[in-house]
Amino acid sequence: MTIRDATPSDADDIYRLLGWFVTSCRPDRAVFDDVTFPRIVEAAAEGRAEFLVAEQDSRMVGYVLALRMPTLFAGGTILELLELAVDAPLRGRGTGSALIRAVQARALEAKDVEVTVPTRRAADFYRGLGFHETAAYLKWSTS
Ligand SMILES: CC(C)(COP(=O)(O)OP(=O)(O)OC[C@H]1O[C@@H](n2cnc3c(N)ncnc32)[C@H](O)[C@@H]1OP(=O)(O)O)[C@@H](O)C(=O)NCCC(=O)NCCS
Repeated sequence: MTIRDATPSDADDIYRLLGWFVTSCRPDRAVFDDVTFPRIVEAAAEGRAEFLVAEQDSRMVGYVLALRMPTLFAGGTILELLELAVDAPLRGRGTGSALIRAVQARALEAKDVEVTVPTRRAADFYRGLGFHETAAYLKWSTS
């Protein structure tokens, strides 16, 4: 398996995998193409995000997105995992773990203070990778 940075030509594959990730939001292809995907690719190129994909036999099988945020309280940047998805038929083969380990390696390289993740569905998955529970995650929706 290969883990590499996402590129603009990965749009179709990542949009397909996004369908496995979303639950409460419905992705809009036009917004993805015109706004969100190019912004994320740009943020990653500027070091403000980690946007990685996993490939197996030249086929994309997973992706991960984490945003790097400057903080005052931590005395440096924190890297927040926001999206992680693996093709449903190919789960349980270590792809998700490989993507998170790659993000953890990037966090060490960038000297981020910590890596965080809000999750409801996969807390045990993250515990298995060294994460521990620290706070409740609340949201206020604008729509
Ligand atoms: C979560 C997800 C990325 C895991 O990918 P994966 O490639 O199946 O993960 P791995 O094969 O590396 O699994 C590693 C371990 O975590 C466990 N695990 C996988 N998904 C899990 C989950 N959702 N909850 C708890 N444990 C999980 C596996 O059983 C495995 O355990 P083992 O080491 O004892 O065998 C994948 O299930 C997925 O895309 N889910 C839908 C989207 C999602 O929930 N994303 C995360 C939200 S933040």
